[in-house]
Amino acid sequence: MEDLRNKYLELVSGAADEAALEELRVQAVGKKGEISLKMRELGKMTPEERQVMGPKLNALKDEINSALAAKKAALADAALDARLKTEWLDVTLPSRTRRQGSIHPISQVTEEVTAIFADMGFAVAEGPQIETDWYNFDALNIPGHHPARAEMDTFYTHRAEGDNRPPHVLRTHTSPVQIRTMEKTGAPIRIICPGRVYRADYDQTHTPMFHQVEGLALGKDISMANLKWVLEEFFSAFFGTHVETRFRASHFPFTEPSAEVDIQCSWEDGQVKVGEGNDWLEVLGSGMVHPKVLEAGGIDPNEYQGFAFGIGIDRLAMLKYGIPDLRAFFDSDLRWLRHYGFASLDQPTLHGGLAR
Ligand code: DAH
Repeated sequence: MEDLRNKYLELVSGAADEAALEELRVQAVGKKGEISLKMRELGKMTPEERQVMGPKLNALKDEINSALAAKKAALADAALDARLKTEWLDVTLPSRTRRQGSIHPISQVTEEVTAIFADMGFAVAEGPQIETDWYNFDALNIPGHHPARAEMDTFYTHRAEGDNRPPHVLRTHTSPVQIRTMEKTGAPIRIICPGRVYRADYDQTHTPMFHQVEGLALGKDISMANLKWVLEEFFSAFFGTHVETRFRASHFPFTEPSAEVDIQCSWEDGQVKVGEGNDWLEVLGSGMVHPKVLEAGGIDPNEYQGFAFGIGIDRLAMLKYGIPDLRAFFDSDLRWLRHYGFASLDQPTLHGGLAR
């Protein structure tokens, strides 16, 4: 009996898992287990022997059963401990913030500009960023010898040796889309064209790639007065306050007459505020479309006339959102993007509001 007891207590204490314990239980106290068989032998004993052996066997059975139960509980505890160790979480750590993407200020301002002009009946037109020099220059009344070509610091594509066609250019402005639209739809026209443009220039307010929005309105009796109203309407909607404008006589090859437009602003401690103060900031070029440009676009200048303008989108974004350096727009610095970016669900609309 003592041997049986030692054997099973040792086996139970060394059991590796629940399955091993179950096997031991069957082997010891199951129906045909070693101890159960011993209990059956009680019947063959004398009553005196039985009186001694009976309680002893019962006690042994109980002892083994409780050893099995205790070991089972211990195994379960150990399994739980092991699980808790791997699933451990330091709840005192600061929570992890979700890094969400944001809308770039250029995209945001482009959407704002588009919403305002759409409200005034302007559709969005597009053109290629790699242009022929005809669309980028000649058709806009900028012939080969014209100083504007040199002034614009144009990027030219490379032609293979022996290929004498004029090289393509990275468009230096969005104005070529005027010509493309005239060719495509004819007059009347009311479009804006936001997009990327390129010039070899780099400092705090210039990057080799930047953004413009072109405007073009052609009709039978469109005048400078319409241009002025449209632009004043635009600036007031865009900046969310009445903005005084100043039209200065200027010169562009593709317009006659031409005007540069300034908006009213104040400078304080190097900070510019639009819509107040006694200073002026130049923000766009504009004018009445030159008859030669209409002709280049296949439109009869005796029948149609209209205005055009070109605004720098990046400049608008810097002014409205107080962003001091243009170069940072294109550095892809995540800290900058998180600071100046916009929530992706804040779609600018005229009724929902344009500014954040
Ligand atoms: N294309 C000019 C530029 O990039 C801007 C401009 C001026 C566009 C006058 C126009 C315009 O449509 O009428 O500097």
